[in-house]
Amino acid sequence: MIKYPYYDTIATRWHAITGRRGGAFKELILNDALLSAMPGIAGKTLLEIGCGNGYFMPLLLRRFSGQVPNALYRTDVSQAQLKMAEKQFPIEACRYEILDVYRPFPAALPPADLIFSSMVYNEVGAPGLQNGIRESARLLSDDGLIVTCVLHPLFIQKQQERGVLRKKGNVWLLPGAEGLELPVVPRSLEQYRAVFEANRLTFETQEIYGNEQLYKVKPKLRELKDVPVALLVRSRKKQI
Ligand SMILES: C[S@@+](CC[C@H](N)C(=O)[O-])C[C@H]1O[C@@H](n2cnc3c(N)ncnc32)[C@H](O)[C@@H]1O
Repeated sequence: MIKYPYYDTIATRWHAITGRRGGAFKELILNDALLSAMPGIAGKTLLEIGCGNGYFMPLLLRRFSGQVPNALYRTDVSQAQLKMAEKQFPIEACRYEILDVYRPFPAALPPADLIFSSMVYNEVGAPGLQNGIRESARLLSDDGLIVTCVLHPLFIQKQQERGVLRKKGNVWLLPGAEGLELPVVPRSLEQYRAVFEANRLTFETQEIYGNEQLYKVKPKLRELKDVPVALLVRSRKKQI
């Protein structure tokens, strides 16, 4: 079984491998897609779920430099990841909370206008996904936005079919950069959609593919060039 929280055991390695831009796929493609999905930060309360080494929030602040947010929260289930974020990518006004998507969100968190997570929910089981989205919907301000990015269900399915995933106990593992294996949970796009809709959230999707620049650094991904690598979801409260 994977020790929990797994990232407590790999936080240093994770930072060494993914660094200041999150690794090749994020640096070349995903970061920009995520930032383009966000509407600005002026006067907003921002909540990041599963911030990892924390590289992303500085990019967000830089993209919208000149805009002053109301409050910033970086959260993760792993204390080691939070410490890494605080040390490697310090943001003076940022607050830090341990947050496990399987559990009620910390009482210290206020309503938020922009709640975002990248590559978190594809690692957690159905109860974590359901609770995380329910809690996010509860905290979301009336005109707020949730931006969620996961490994695309078709990408995980394809890697499973090709025998790339390895099963350890009841956990599927996907080999990543430098042999670091990460847990993945195979589920369909419809299963994701059902969770957002059950919480009266819209489900506007964007599929993120690789590109030539990425294939130069990660040649094996070219074999999957017709398969989206990531799924980006923008959600707002449904108007009743
Ligand atoms: C693949 S990393 C992504 C980190 C960061 N968002 C990024 O894009 O680099 C997944 C992150 O989700 C966190 N995580 C895993 N399970 C979680 C849970 N149950 N609740 C909250 N965060 C969790 C891990 O600790 C880890 O930092």
